Order: sequence, then structure tokens, then C-alpha cells
Amino acid sequence: MNNVKSNILDEINSLKNQFNKEFDKIINISDLNQIRVNYLGRKGFVSSYFRRLGEFSVEKRPLIGNELNELKKYIEEKLKEVNKRLIQIEKTEKRYDITLPGFKRFIGKKHPLTMIMEEIKSIFSFMGFEIAEGPEIETDYYNFEALNIPPGHPARELQDTFYLTNNMLLRTHTSPVQIRIMEKTKPPIRIIAPGRVFRRDTPDATHSPIFMQVEGLYVDKNVTFAELKGIILTFARAMFGKDMKIRFRSSFFPFTEPSAEYDFLCMFCKGKGCKICKGAGWVEISGAGMVDPEVFKFVNIDPEIYSGYAFGMGVERIAMFKYQIDDIRTFYENDMRFLNQF
Ligand code: DAH
Repeated sequence: MNNVKSNILDEINSLKNQFNKEFDKIINISDLNQIRVNYLGRKGFVSSYFRRLGEFSVEKRPLIGNELNELKKYIEEKLKEVNKRLIQIEKTEKRYDITLPGFKRFIGKKHPLTMIMEEIKSIFSFMGFEIAEGPEIETDYYNFEALNIPPGHPARELQDTFYLTNNMLLRTHTSPVQIRIMEKTKPPIRIIAPGRVFRRDTPDATHSPIFMQVEGLYVDKNVTFAELKGIILTFARAMFGKDMKIRFRSSFFPFTEPSAEYDFLCMFCKGKGCKICKGAGWVEISGAGMVDPEVFKFVNIDPEIYSGYAFGMGVERIAMFKYQIDDIRTFYENDMRFLNQF
């Protein structure tokens, strides 16, 4: 009798070992379901032992039954645990579909005005101009007076500005850098001065209270107006292509004599007149001229020995022309739909 009892208990024990081995090989839910059917199903191993209970005496049945119940519980528990883990894995795999394209990280890019500014600087550097800088907060002296615009001069009204004190203001143009450089440098001087300028203008499609200019200045012996035209034309062709043409119209600035305003040929209609140039065939860029001898006196350069030319340049205008933008405000609104196009 003892034998029979130990035999059945041994069998139950080796069934448990067999289960453990198969359990270790489970890699997915379908393996798991198969093992569940084999062991716990109606016709599975465990059930078949339960059915055999009747072969044993009434005294032994509780012991064997107990063993079987323990084994059943053991198997159920282990399967439940691995089931949970497998479901988790399958969910994760569904969440990470490795066939989907990756996320692109936005690393930013240069503002269109920065790009144009860099291009302008590089063209003039190539022609031998050094890059100079001046402060955005200027004194009345540098912004106006030393440029031959005394208090009360009507030219001040064209450049109404933001005053910080009676004497300090936000510069209305980059021309004061001319004075600052000529004060401390002996000719020959060949610089451009890029930077931000400010005017009390109401914003509209062509006006912004903050905008950018590039000033140019060349002072040496025997500098002529022809050289000024040459440098502007060379710049215009480098920026817009070899078919570019320029034109000078006579004008007035207190710090140049003679003075001119200069235009670039409209590259979109080649001078015929279109929407971009508003029918003119030309696009206005800025002013230029020969440095006025009065200005040389402020900086102790002898106008009998030296002459020079100076020019301004509106950076937004060049960018608007190059990219066919018809509203200056778009540069300052930080609208990604606009900025992403460059
Ligand atoms: N400073 C002038 C302006 O902002 C532009 C200008 C005109 C600059 C003539 C110059 C110049 O250097 O020679 O309207």
C-alpha cells in the first residue's frame, strides 16, 4: 500500500518538474494557452489524476487530492503571472511600431534677415571692407550734429526718433558709425557698419519702427563718385546676378555733397513695371554720396587731402526684393509659417 501511495506522489512530483521545464520555454501567449490546455484542461494531466482518485482508498484520497490541488494552484499561479507579463510585452510592441518614421527634432534655422545680412557682409568683406559697429543708443551729436544736421535742421524731421533724454536717443540710422570710425582712424578707411536702427514710424507694409541698415564708408586720397557707383553695381550684381542694373537719382543729405538716391532694376519685370516694383521698374534701396567737407571738419580729416564716399542700405528692402515679400512686418512677427519658408 505504501508503495502505491509513494508512486502516485512521485508521479505528481515529476509532473510538476515536467511542467516547470515546459513553462521555461514559453515565449508567447499561444505557447501559454497550449500549456494551460495540456495541464489544466478537461482532458489535461492534472484532471486525469483527479479522475484516478477513486482508485485509492478513502484514507489516502485526501492526501493525494491535497497534493493535486497544490499542484493545480501552483500551475495556475505561474501561468497567471507569465500571462500578465506577456500581455504587457505585446502592448508595448504595439505602442512602438518600429516601422513608423522617426520624430524629427526641430533644431531651428537662421532668420531671413540674418541670412541677407550675412550675405551683404560677405560680399563687402570680399571687396576689402572691414566690419564696424556702433551703439544703438546714440548721442544727439553722433546721430545728427556731426553729420551736419544741427538742431532745428529740417532733415531731423525725416528721422523722428525715440529720445531717452534730451541728448540720448535710439539711433535713426547707421551713419553715426561713420563719425565714430573717422574720429579714431586715419585714412584710408574702408568699412561697412551693419545694425539695427529706430524711428518713430507707425508700422505698415513698408514701415517698421525697428529695422536694419548697412552703412558704407570709404575715405582715401582721390576717391571719386565713379568708384561709389562701381562698388554699388558690383554689390548689386553679386547679390542679384550679373544682369542687375542700378540707377542714381540726385537727392539731398546733409552729410554728403553731391548726394544721390540709388535704385536697383526690378529683377522680376526687368524694368517693365510689375507688382513687386509697383510699376516703377526700379526698387529704391537707399542714399549715397560724397562725404561732405563739413563732416570731415568734425573729425579732423583734411578735405583738401582726402575725399570719400558713403552709402546707406536698407536690409529689409533688399530681403523683401530678394524673397518677393510685400510686407515688412512679416519679418518681426515670428510667425513660424512665414519663417519656415526660408
Ligand atoms: N542715413 C541715411 C538714411 O538713413 C541713408 C544714407 C544716405 C546713408 C546717404 C549714407 C549716405 O551714408 O551717404 O536715410
